Amino acid sequence: MRLSLPPALDALRRPLRDLRISVTDRCNLRCAYCMPREVFGRDFVFLRHADLLSFEEIVRVARQGVALGVRKIRLSGGEPLLRRGIERLVEMLAGLRDEAGRPIELAMTTNGVLLAKKAQALKEAGLARLNISLDALDETVFQRMSGGGAPLAAVLEGIAAGQAAGLAPLKVSAVVKRGVNESEILPLVRYFRHTGVIVRFIEFMDVGTSNAWRLDDMVPADEILARVNQEFPLCPLAPRHAGEVAKRWQFADGGGEIGVIASVTQAFCHGCSRLRLSTDGKLYTCLFASDGADLRTLLRDGENGENDESDARLRQCIARVWAGRTDRYSQLRRAASERPARRIEMSYIGG
Ligand code: GTP
Ligand code: 5AD
Ligand code: SF4
Ligand code: SF4
Repeated sequence: MRLSLPPALDALRRPLRDLRISVTDRCNLRCAYCMPREVFGRDFVFLRHADLLSFEEIVRVARQGVALGVRKIRLSGGEPLLRRGIERLVEMLAGLRDEAGRPIELAMTTNGVLLAKKAQALKEAGLARLNISLDALDETVFQRMSGGGAPLAAVLEGIAAGQAAGLAPLKVSAVVKRGVNESEILPLVRYFRHTGVIVRFIEFMDVGTSNAWRLDDMVPADEILARVNQEFPLCPLAPRHAGEVAKRWQFADGGGEIGVIASVTQAFCHGCSRLRLSTDGKLYTCLFASDGADLRTLLRDGENGENDESDARLRQCIARVWAGRTDRYSQLRRAASERPARRIEMSYIGG
């Protein structure tokens, strides 16, 4: 057996461990906190197919990421199930191995709307886990949060299909907005207790520049936990691995676990091991970055067709980007007046 090489370290000595890949900038929902209809309306111009990285290009980047330390790959969007043939990409990525010959953990973040039809095929292609966004169990509140693109029942059927296919542990992500869906915190907890599904509540974040973020609209994780704890006493759980974004809690009565992702009130940049590949092939070292390093040009450069030399160049480029990384946006979170005017939208880098 070959020994594992140490992962690449950034300027703050954080290892590269996770690669999040956005496979499309399109979505069939219009969540107000991510792709509000007023901005992403009928006239919005999405990327052309030719601008997207091909599956082969994505796998080339992922392979070099693995050589530099990546051990978890997460597919996201937009909505990843809208990318035609996504099962084929899953199959290609599931074939990647680290230097010791072990597979890479392969997960997906989806809104679940198209999942009922696809869950089994995704499992067979080699997907290990799913995180599904669901902000409410009341139809009216669900529509208000998700912008009216699909019925709540479609997502619930998708979750059931994901579970039936064994894509576990399945996590449900709920962004909580003050005065909009805070009333849904307890119903979500009650619904998923004892099912094996882990609900994680996310503080509304100031990602991108189109979601009209205001601090007053964010419900702090401590408040969310206090509400749950009142009905279902909670005990803290240790992190599953270093750099985990969610803080975990279990129900004292054995009903399972929940989590909170407190990017605003309890920043977790110190352990951030995530690199993001956008739909159009840019590498972003932070969710709140203004720009990324263009890998697509490197991948498509005529002299750079796939061979050992061009792979080495690609790896060096990724290594350089990671080595120069100093991001810790959430720890520094600046006043609105100081935030850069242009920040990448969530739908290009998949959260
Ligand atoms: P697990 O592997 O299941 O722990 O997944 P995950 O939590 O990394 O992925 P998921 O796509 O479910 O993300 C949940 C929420 O955490 C989303 O709202 C993400 O935008 C947010 N999130 C994930 N990574 C980061 C990060 O590096 N910084 C910040 N600020 N938020 C993040
Ligand atoms: N704040 C917090 N979470 C967000 N997501 C999208 N936009 C935001 C935001 N502004 C979440 C989605 C999904 C994940 C990819 O990111 O709910 O679960
Ligand atoms: Fe689509 Fe997910 Fe963004 Fe909602 S949060 S608009 S489901 S990409
Ligand atoms: Fe990582 Fe940037 Fe999120 Fe901090 S704000 S955890 S550096 S992605």
